[in-house]
Amino acid sequence: MNCIDICFEEQEITIQSKPHCSLMQICDDHPTPIFFGCREAACGTCLIRISSGLENLSPVTPAERELLDVLAPNHVDARLACQCIVNGSIRIAAFN
Ligand code: FES
Repeated sequence: MNCIDICFEEQEITIQSKPHCSLMQICDDHPTPIFFGCREAACGTCLIRISSGLENLSPVTPAERELLDVLAPNHVDARLACQCIVNGSIRIAAFN
């Protein structure tokens, strides 16, 4: 089985998963530093920064774009974890 790595840089945690899974589901199944609120691109609780592998995530959804434009304008590496399907390895950094 192909495995991908989801690395949380600051905590030095790496989770292995199969590709094409929901990042939210992966986080539900493992202890991670990402918190979720609405789970539907409305609250911004799950805002993350992708330091590597941005191209391995599903495209930004219209609802996600709308909220990112408010929460993180000018940050092309910002995503909402609740909206991401992970197709390849990524590195997640804190959003500062
Ligand atoms: S959990 Fe609310 S925007 Fe992702």
